[in-house]
Amino acid sequence: MTNQSHKTSVTNNLKLFSEAQQASLYVAHQIANLINEKEKQGKPAVLGLATGNTPKGVYQELIRLHQNEALSFKNVISFNLDEYYPILPDDQQSYTYFMRQFLFKHVDIKPEHTHIPHTDFSEEGIAQYCQEYEDKIESLGGLDLQLLGIGRNGHIGFNEPGSSFESKTRLVHLNSVTREDAKAAFGSMDKVPQKAISIGVDTISKAKKIILLALGKRKSDIMKLAIHGDVTTQVPASILQTLPQAEFVLDHGAAGEIKS
Ligand code: PGA
Repeated sequence: MTNQSHKTSVTNNLKLFSEAQQASLYVAHQIANLINEKEKQGKPAVLGLATGNTPKGVYQELIRLHQNEALSFKNVISFNLDEYYPILPDDQQSYTYFMRQFLFKHVDIKPEHTHIPHTDFSEEGIAQYCQEYEDKIESLGGLDLQLLGIGRNGHIGFNEPGSSFESKTRLVHLNSVTREDAKAAFGSMDKVPQKAISIGVDTISKAKKIILLALGKRKSDIMKLAIHGDVTTQVPASILQTLPQAEFVLDHGAAGEIKS
């Protein structure tokens, strides 16, 4: 694929909003439309979900749609991108806790339909566990939609710079930028885990639809690189330039460094 065709595909797949809230509502409605569409077809909606500050507004709107507009999650099967290792599901910094707080406890999703990488076992069992996570996604026909945030270092999930584009679900080492950004949540740097389980770049790339949401000025430098820079494993999100099913959704702050 030539560089020029990357640019064309990116321009077509870029949505800019002046406010973060508008961007979040747009993404939430894309997800809700997919859930309703799948329900009409009598099929489950298989969603890849993300954590962090970025998707909170999306989840807030999905909760509102559930409470006020009868959006049901009973047909949703979810797979989260990643989880720290080691961590306990009840720890407040865990993504299991996050998903419960910011989405699951407010909607009618069946607990047995939610999947978040579990880490309450020895490191030796992890490779097999990761393979099973992949197999489960594949047995459902793959992810219908993957929601992504982006790290300041360009990571998607916990696929840090240098992650192979062929990578699958696995145990990863967290990059120093990622650990620095997690410091506030954990209280101090020595409490931030060194490792995590993350689905792979390849796992993400196979989703039928991918939405990367980036909000705020602190994401503007990395968004410029992800959208207009080289496609390189040093900026994992840059792979999305080559995927026609990927969409970048940015607010004014995150789009600050992007040429019109
Ligand atoms: P954030 O994290 O939404 O808290 O900025 C995004 C990410 O690291 O993927």
